[in-house]
Formats: sequence, structure tokens, C-alpha cells
Amino acid sequence: MRVDIISIFPEYFAPLDVSLIGKARQRGLLDVRLHQLRDWTHDVHRTVDDTPYGGGPGMVMKPEPWSEAIDAVAGSAPEPPRLVVPTPSGRPFTQEVALAYAAEPWLLFAPARYEGIDSRVMAEYGDRLRLDEVSIGDYVLAGGEAAVLVMVEAVARLLPGVLGNAGSVTDDSFAPGAMAGLLEGPVYTKPPVWRGHEVPPILLSGNHGAIARWRRDQALRRTVANRPELAARLDPGTLDKRDRQVLDEASFRFPPEDMAD
Ligand code: ADE
Repeated sequence: MRVDIISIFPEYFAPLDVSLIGKARQRGLLDVRLHQLRDWTHDVHRTVDDTPYGGGPGMVMKPEPWSEAIDAVAGSAPEPPRLVVPTPSGRPFTQEVALAYAAEPWLLFAPARYEGIDSRVMAEYGDRLRLDEVSIGDYVLAGGEAAVLVMVEAVARLLPGVLGNAGSVTDDSFAPGAMAGLLEGPVYTKPPVWRGHEVPPILLSGNHGAIARWRRDQALRRTVANRPELAARLDPGTLDKRDRQVLDEASFRFPPEDMAD
């Protein structure tokens, strides 16, 4: 997969040299290309921002450097990249979106600083580059760069060959499958007793059926405790008798039909 990132802080992306992503790049599974937005300015100050029309606080990123940069990077490609613009006003970035991005051959990220990019840039490229404005959560960052790091990591680990153990992707919280819609439960490794805390004996039993059941119980409990809105979205038709008992013990009640979102 090819990933281009246009930013006024290309150095922000040094973490992409490290660990899983760094190795994926060395192995040629991921081709990351960083671009300095200011290289597409034409004044001595290399200006990328200006005051907002209509007034208000902060500065807005000028359209010209962005369009020149996007044209230069994606310009005449017959199969243009998908353009991803991180913004707190975007649609939520979820595991589903990460899976969709992982199926793309080429992504172009355009992280903004200040109050965002002049909206005409999105109007200009919306259809041509299949623009996505996405938010990584309900909080406001100082710029889109950290959001791009988050998204690139979530996407890259899904690419074939990037993770050593293919099972790790299917076991993820939020992955489709047997545990779909449930958070992952607790995990343990050696030693069996640490500072007086024991590993739950069932995990040492070798009884794979009982272990799977225990893990599902834990996942249900954790989902109810930490993300009740996810528990409310479980399909009651997929729950067995034991599932319902665990939910009951956790004092979870399904909301009436029209209350579940
Ligand atoms: N830029 C600032 N805050 C952001 C957020 N929550 N998600 C994506 N981009 C952002």
C-alpha cells in the first residue's frame, strides 16, 4: 500500500520509522511518502494560512498550497488515491473504516493545523479523490498529524503480512467474528502467581471449550462495564443462555427497541 502525507510538520511522522510500521516499510509492504506543504508556497514567508472570512478566532489554511500539493502528489494518476482529511467534524474513524482503507492501494492524508483547510479544497477534490473527512474521537487535537499517525497504524497492521500472527487481527475488539461487538477480556502470561495475584485457574486447565466460554464471559462483563452502548447493540438472537445469564448478573438490561441506536 502507498501512503502519502502532506503536512507542515513532516518530522511529526518519525514514529512511522519504528516498530511494526517501520518493519512493514523496510519489507516493502507499506510505502510512506512525506511531503512538506510549504514546498508549494511561493512567498518568502512560505505562508500557508490566513484570517477567516466572516471573522472569528484562529487562522484558516489557504487553498492554493493544498491544491498545488495534492495535484503534484496525486495529479494525473489514472487510479487516484483516496483523500483522507482528519477533522473533529468528520465522520468517526472506526475499525470498519480501517478495514475499508486497508483494502485501498493508495491513501493520501491531508492533516491540517489551525482552524482547518479552506472548504473549497474539499469541494474541489471531493468527487475526484473520494474525499473522506474523518474524526478519531470526540476531542480536539492541535492538528491532524496525530490523527494520521493513529489511522496509519490502525490500517497498516491490517495489511497482509504486517502482523506475524494472523489471528491477532480477527481476535481484535471491534473485529467481525464470533466475538463481534464485544471488547476483549483480560490477558495473562507467566508467572502463574505474581505479587500474590493468581492467573485464573481455568486458563491453566487445558480445557479449550471452558477457556473459550470464560473468555466470552469476561468479554461480556467488560463490554457492559466499559461500553454499555456497545452491549445495547448486541443482537439478542446471537446470545446463548449463558450469555444472557452473564449479562443479567452484570445488571445489564436491553433498552427498548427504539432506544438502541
Ligand atoms: N484534528 C483535531 N482534532 C481531531 C480529531 N479528533 N480527529 C481528527 N482530526 C482532528
